[in-house]
Amino acid sequence: MFAALAERAGLEVRTASSTDDPAEACASDVVILAVPMSRYRTLPVEALRGRLVVDAMNHWWELDGARPDLDDPATSTSETVQAFLAGSRVVKALNHASVWELENLGRPAGAPDRRGIAIAGDDAADVAAVAALVDALGFDPVVAGPLAAGVAFEPPTEIFGSDATAAQIRSMLDRFPRSQRGRVVARARQGRG
Ligand SMILES: NC(=O)c1ccc[n+]([C@@H]2O[C@H](COP(=O)([O-])OP(=O)(O)OC[C@H]3O[C@@H](n4cnc5c(N)ncnc54)[C@H](OP(=O)(O)O)[C@@H]3O)[C@@H](O)[C@H]2O)c1
Repeated sequence: MFAALAERAGLEVRTASSTDDPAEACASDVVILAVPMSRYRTLPVEALRGRLVVDAMNHWWELDGARPDLDDPATSTSETVQAFLAGSRVVKALNHASVWELENLGRPAGAPDRRGIAIAGDDAADVAAVAALVDALGFDPVVAGPLAAGVAFEPPTEIFGSDATAAQIRSMLDRFPRSQRGRVVARARQGRG
């Protein structure tokens, strides 16, 4: 899904669908996960061990159905993916813009209409690497915080599908705790203790 975009940015790209041997694609500097979230448990745990993995997936209730492992608002879906891919380093990014936006709205750094892409991850070096990738793809990286902060740009949030600049995304992140979804997440996290 991201292959054309990355190739246009001059990156070497290897892809794998569900019927391919994932070994070659997974032996990359960065692996982007873009499979239906309902199928995250089909991802190749061993081939992804030790790899920097970008989780670009979203849980769509309409498509995925009821999923107790994905429906808990206290846990970002990327934390769930990280728990499944325990040996990988998961960073959440590239999930909240559509493929059309990603393929058509990339701009050079400094362009006034350059859009932003939110990023969440637990390791500073990994987040920096993904930020550099986002920049190379034509978007301003906006670091939201640790992987748990990814709840602020999953569906349904203001950022998701917003087609926004970095400054607008920062404002949306600031007001997320006061949003309806933000309050649901806060209540669920308090309940978890
Ligand atoms: N579409 C967008 O604009 C967009 C933007 C940002 C993020 N996303 C996210 O990206 C994910 C995919 O969205 P999509 O619209 O591309 O869905 P899609 O059209 O249903 O495509 C899913 C692809 O994932 C492949 N796949 C499934 N399990 C796999 C596995 N274990 N290993 C390798 N490939 C596997 C499928 O291959 P087979 O056909 O061979 O099964 C299929 O090619 C979703 O989580 C979505 O939220 C989508």
